[in-house]
Amino acid sequence: MTENHCAESLFDVIVLGAGAAGLMCAITAGQRGLKVLVLDHTDKIGKKIRMSGGGYCNFTNLNTEPKNFISQNPHFCKSALKSYTPFDFLKLIEKYNIAYREKAAGQLFCVEKAKIIVDMLLQEAQEAQVKIQIQKIIQSVEKIQDIFSIKTPDQTFTARLLVVATGGYSVPTTGATGFGFELARQFDLNIIPTRAALVPFTADPDSLEQLQPLSGIGVEAHVCYEKYYFEESVLFTHRGLSGPAILQISTYWPPGKKIEIDFCPHVDLYEKLILAKKESPTVFLSTVLIYFLPKKMVSLWLEYLFTKHKTENKNLASCSHTFLLEAANLFKKWKWLPAGTEGYRTAEVTWGGVDTNELSSKTMESKKVSGLYFVGEVVDVTGQLGGFNFQWAWASGYAAGKHMPSRK
Ligand code: FDA
Repeated sequence: MTENHCAESLFDVIVLGAGAAGLMCAITAGQRGLKVLVLDHTDKIGKKIRMSGGGYCNFTNLNTEPKNFISQNPHFCKSALKSYTPFDFLKLIEKYNIAYREKAAGQLFCVEKAKIIVDMLLQEAQEAQVKIQIQKIIQSVEKIQDIFSIKTPDQTFTARLLVVATGGYSVPTTGATGFGFELARQFDLNIIPTRAALVPFTADPDSLEQLQPLSGIGVEAHVCYEKYYFEESVLFTHRGLSGPAILQISTYWPPGKKIEIDFCPHVDLYEKLILAKKESPTVFLSTVLIYFLPKKMVSLWLEYLFTKHKTENKNLASCSHTFLLEAANLFKKWKWLPAGTEGYRTAEVTWGGVDTNELSSKTMESKKVSGLYFVGEVVDVTGQLGGFNFQWAWASGYAAGKHMPSRK
């Protein structure tokens, strides 16, 4: 070995990426007595964990099921999710007396800032004797005979096993890169084309001009694209639409297709209008609608309807049933064509990634290249919003760390 090779440097495992999946994998392998090194190119460990969940990290979801994940192979995630459940992670959280709360059904958030999760992982890593080096620029990765060799500008690190936990493209300011995908290609592994997911929609200039007055308004709504639907809030923004329901549907949305939104779910608006017409015929249409919907939205939508019919706000007595149905449908069946998404700049995750056909679902090891593992977001498994992506990171990291071969 040359001097440039780290003297004590044959590690059992090198993990590339000190995010959720990489740290969990390193801790699990370290606890089994393997000599582990984690390398990351950023100046701070776990940047995404720190910013997640609005700063309070939605670290898991108690209702995690395979149906909460999207992948070319929907069965792939099952084994890992079964071997490391939300309750396993919760046990760790409770070991550190970290306070948490359930925000929506099953979604667990920290009560204190998300840094507490990073601190917990670092403590676990230290106890498992895992070495972590940050600000390491990976220049090349090679497999020479049975040894992986990782070159940085000033050092070469070697290991029997290599784990790629470098995540996807989402939010490049956190250090996200396509490194894992490039590395997979280098080893001749197939990549499912990637795109931004859990991401706000943008509007085209005309639509944006029309919707501009609603910017900042949030509405509880039912958003659907084909068979996929979510009922959560929708937020009008100065660029288009956001909010949890929009982020959720963005994962299933193919560009160029319309989505449909019911801004008044669980209310038969047409029936309410007919009833109001019968009981209070002198009341204005807008007066009834603002009982169920934001005032600004009602004004804007009705302005469109009145212009179309060359009429103006009128009392219910002078509205035909057909007109009332059209008015109700404007809010109940609003069809909208997003211009696109805000892209990786703000996307919470990357859809697609290393083809699961290339990996063992039990161990995350490459079927083609022995000793090479992929865990976390870099793999073609994308969770819905609500703590599922971290659960995938923990579970896939654990699967690799647990099953990788120990020293002979
Ligand atoms: P992750 O991206 O976390 O880590 C990858 C690591 O690899 C990084 O440390 C990076 O620096 C490093 N790396 C990348 N390229 C490299 C290179 N070339 N050389 C060396 N190192 C490299 N999920 C959830 O379940 N609950 C939540 O509350 C949230 N909230 C949330 C908010 C925001 C704003 C975002 C962007 C994302 C979320 N997520 C989330 C998603 C969640 O953060 C994500 O799924 C996991 O962090 C993925 O974990 P990984 O370890 O796979 O990648």
